[in-house]
Amino acid sequence: MCGIVGFSSLDRPACVPLVNGLRRLEYRGYDSAGVALESPDGIKVFKKTGKVAELDKLLKERLGDEENAKCTIGIAHTRWATHGLPTEVNAHPHVADGGRLALVHNGIVENYAALRAQLEKKGCSFVSQTDTEVLAHLVAVFDRGDFLSAVSRALKKVEGTYGIAVISTRHPGEMVVARKGSSLVIGIGEGSTVVASDVSAIVAHTRQVIYLKDGDVARVTPGGVDIYTLDNVPVSREVQEVEWDAESVEKGGYEHFMLKEIFEQPETLRNTIRGRLDKVNCTAILSGLNLPPRELASIRRAVIIGCGTSLHAGMAGKYLFESLADIPTSPEQAAEFRYCNPIIGPDDWAIAVSQSGETADTLAAVRESIGKGALVSAICNVVGSTIAREAGRGVYLHAGPEISVASTKAFTSQVTVLAMIALKLGRARRLSREDGASICAELAALPDLVAKVLERNGDIAKVAEKYSGASDMFFLGRGILYPTALEGALKMKEISYVHAEGYQAAELKHGPIALLCEETPVVALLNDIPGKEKTVGNVQECRARKAPVVGIVTEGDESAAAHCNDVVYVPRTSAVVAPIVTVVALQLFAYHVARLRGCEIDQPRNLAKSVTVE
Ligand code: M6R
Repeated sequence: MCGIVGFSSLDRPACVPLVNGLRRLEYRGYDSAGVALESPDGIKVFKKTGKVAELDKLLKERLGDEENAKCTIGIAHTRWATHGLPTEVNAHPHVADGGRLALVHNGIVENYAALRAQLEKKGCSFVSQTDTEVLAHLVAVFDRGDFLSAVSRALKKVEGTYGIAVISTRHPGEMVVARKGSSLVIGIGEGSTVVASDVSAIVAHTRQVIYLKDGDVARVTPGGVDIYTLDNVPVSREVQEVEWDAESVEKGGYEHFMLKEIFEQPETLRNTIRGRLDKVNCTAILSGLNLPPRELASIRRAVIIGCGTSLHAGMAGKYLFESLADIPTSPEQAAEFRYCNPIIGPDDWAIAVSQSGETADTLAAVRESIGKGALVSAICNVVGSTIAREAGRGVYLHAGPEISVASTKAFTSQVTVLAMIALKLGRARRLSREDGASICAELAALPDLVAKVLERNGDIAKVAEKYSGASDMFFLGRGILYPTALEGALKMKEISYVHAEGYQAAELKHGPIALLCEETPVVALLNDIPGKEKTVGNVQECRARKAPVVGIVTEGDESAAAHCNDVVYVPRTSAVVAPIVTVVALQLFAYHVARLRGCEIDQPRNLAKSVTVE
């Protein structure tokens, strides 16, 4: 979704850091980009539809060296259209006050139409169709000499969400930033201060950061930052050290971030598990959950909330919680959950799963659950993200920055964390020491098991070559592998644009089987775990309709392999870790199909990495 970068220095030109920051945010998805620079002669605005590279070209053509050197403060933005078409006029920054003020905004101003009408009555003229332009005019209208107060007064009129950065030539050297429901991070560097909606645009400058809280408004100067509430009360926010370095947001020799992230999984899983398996007591140590065994034992029901890939992880969590801990568990799509007046209360445990920790619907579901008195925890990757902070307790994935829009390493870490929670819950309730020990051993072996799947990359690429021309595909899974089938189909459709559907293996014959023919490949998850024989039966039904079947089969299981046209082997595992190991083969399959079809893998059309609007 939209991205914000701000840069403030006494002597370093802002243009290059701003454009480089936007490049770091490209993965979030966008359709236009822009920069505003504060110069002694006024504010200079440059905008372009399309890629940041186009904006960079424009800046190189239009901004002379001398002028560039004078512009040491600026703001920049990548826009993902919500209100108004993706055009240059609608791109941010938006200006007001006769071009003296420029503003960038993430989020949505819900009452923008009413505000716009009031401002028009006061003589403000609008050029764009965006909700953001009202913010620029509002700040200008309230500016009576103190920039920060003007921004605060303007924001008090706003209903909706925002992360903003504003500059004005009436207040040289000063940038004001604020947030409500849309993340904003400030990096404290040597002689420069950087602002961004995402920490990945900051780590090239500094790893010392401040995460603003909702309702914070801050004055940013080259020397640092002063933070206030909207009522002008000073507040102090902790300076934190980011774990990631600049290198971890680079491609590291891989053709795409997605491939890099798929191959990182043995390492990311090692990081997810590190220090969390208690082999003596055959359980998991998850101190962030902050739940004593007695409290764990009294949970009546779990609700696992998420969207997209994170929802699929939650669906796998249902099987894990119910089979290991006997806790009735419902996975819930966050938007459906938040709007259905959910029945949830003090005996229930709501677990929000979100890679970014910023997904609007998941955040709203967290707030709904807290409001109804449920115990709420979060499983997030991004440290300090809004969901992680609002839930207050939870488990971080430690999977490192996930840049590719298509989530891969986050999924395997999410399911691993859910398996560790299920182990902990199970041991607090009824899981035997022996069973706990064997789950601990399997989880500890996960990095090696996943590495074995990665060794099959060449075989998977060959299978992908055979089917990359298909227009439709089906992915079949049963039991705990059903969410993996959904995830395999999601990966396929989002990056290769092949229409792909995930089904419970037994459900196919209740309708979708009508679509099967020689041109519709079926990917069947035939791991040798309970239920396999039934899925083999479903594969036979597909073959009888001439659909070619790609089987994901346990190494050495030649009887299952014999039913398939093509086979990808995965190592033998129990059902508990089967989704984690198996999905890696599906991620690679989708990747190779997309590559062979010439798709833009890391930034698929219409998609955004972090969906911060409803
Ligand atoms: O950051 P989150 O995990 O909350 O994001 C949820 C979904 O938007 C995300 O998983 C999406 O489905 C991915 N593009 C899947 O690859």
